[in-house]
Amino acid sequence: MHPRRALLYMPGDDWKKITKALTLGVDSICMDMEDGVAASRKAEARQTIAKALQELDFGASEKLARINAVGSGWEKDDMAAVLPYRPDGIVIPKLESSDQIQWAHDILAGAELSHGWPLNSIRMLVGVETAKGILNLKEIAAHPRLDAIIFGGEDFAASIGATRTPEAVELLYARQAVIVVCAAFGLQAIDIVTIDFKHPDRVRAEAEFGARLGYAGKQVIHPAQVGPVQSAFTPDEEAIAQARQIVATFEASQKEGRGAYALDGNMIDMPLLKNAQKVLARARLRE
Ligand code: COA
Ligand code: MG
Repeated sequence: MHPRRALLYMPGDDWKKITKALTLGVDSICMDMEDGVAASRKAEARQTIAKALQELDFGASEKLARINAVGSGWEKDDMAAVLPYRPDGIVIPKLESSDQIQWAHDILAGAELSHGWPLNSIRMLVGVETAKGILNLKEIAAHPRLDAIIFGGEDFAASIGATRTPEAVELLYARQAVIVVCAAFGLQAIDIVTIDFKHPDRVRAEAEFGARLGYAGKQVIHPAQVGPVQSAFTPDEEAIAQARQIVATFEASQKEGRGAYALDGNMIDMPLLKNAQKVLARARLRE
């Protein structure tokens, strides 16, 4: 699966921001047709994204397009405008049910068939950011087309009538529910946007907290957020060294017939080994 430590949005009608995104070394570039684009500019965004997909070299960055929500009335034309130019994936916001995934899957499969592209090669990422979406997480997560669930904090707060705070305690239940379901179904979990883009310390702290919760990456909205976020989701040298030591000593202790043993004053057993293996897998993704 493509690493998505940072998933950078920009309004799909803003050619300058799309080209700027190509210079940032960001894991994923998501050209938006939804809330980043005014209602009067949807057609412009579709055309601009189609042109970008045809003409620009995205290098190692993933190229994604976010359509409007299923039921908005815009979603069909959004899909039709960008699919012929083969984005790596489609992001569907405010997703609430497996029917909506199935709708999108059928359109993606139709495009793949008509162009001779492998079935399921266009990946799907869904935004879960409403009360109904959180309630239906299990049925949503089961679809094989899916790579990732993106948790939208601002929309979710609006959906339940919560007041956003810098600590985001009002989001914690839903934010963790997304992680649990992603872990159970082998999906990436992608965390909330830090809307205060002028203070890199804020986004760094929020990204580090998200990584500790178990998120694989975070949505970003400004170039200054890319570096701090990608480094927060990359295990540092200390974490890698610690994980390697656990893996090495665990094998030795198993051979000696001990399931649990002491390392630097800490008890090590199977769950710590699994965690260490996850750290190393995450580190390998970045190589
Ligand atoms: N992607 C790519 N480039 C971006 C960018 C983004 N999301 N946001 C800003 N930039 C570029 C600007 O074009 C500018 O480029 P330049 O130096 O070559 O002229 C540079 O980064 C600095 O931008 P800055 O002046 O600090 O920001 P701004 O006032 O132009 O824009 C926002 C602020 C919030 C409007 C803008 O960051 C943005 O549009 N973010 C994405 C919004 C979005 O897509 N929302 C929907 C999903 S949540
Ligand atoms: Mg949203």
